Amino acid sequence: MNEIVSYRRAGGLMAAVLGLAMLAGGALAQPAGDAVNGKKIFNKCKSCHVLTAKNTKKTGPTLYRVFGRKAGSTDFKYGKSMIAAGEAGLVWDDAKIFAYVMDPKLFLSEQLGLPKNKVKNKMTVKLKDAQQCADVIAYIRQETQK
Ligand code: HEC
Repeated sequence: MNEIVSYRRAGGLMAAVLGLAMLAGGALAQPAGDAVNGKKIFNKCKSCHVLTAKNTKKTGPTLYRVFGRKAGSTDFKYGKSMIAAGEAGLVWDDAKIFAYVMDPKLFLSEQLGLPKNKVKNKMTVKLKDAQQCADVIAYIRQETQK
């Protein structure tokens, strides 16, 4: 009988720990993206990025088929840290683009294991809103992975 009680207690504790872990994960998680809204958000990226195969802008690399692409691998003149991250194996997927766009410098510092002041980052803007970030990623995917 006692054993059953303590087993139940342990189970309850496990559930509580799991719940907490999920809460913590939830705060960082990427929400589902809405490509229609993402089109509007992309106005914030447009001054530097195109979505066409060719790099026709000099201010940022094209985001054409960026998913599955090695970081820093178009003919754009990237910063040293982006090239280093690509060479170390960074390949863009939804979650990585999300983390990068939310805070490029922090993301690269984590990727490279470097302090932030040692990171050479050329993307000087960031999106602070997680929903906007997820939406713009959904839009980029829709436009470029056809
Ligand atoms: C002021 C110009 C500018 C704006 C605005 C901008 N970016 Fe960038 N972006 C850059 C530059 C420059 C790089 C290359 C960074 C480096 O070399 O360190 C870059 C790199 C990237 C990369 C990595 C591409 C690769 O080839 O590895 C992604 C993904 C990206 N940007 C997404 C976005 C999104 C999404 C937005 C809009 C929310 C945005 N950027 C807004 C300038 C910009």
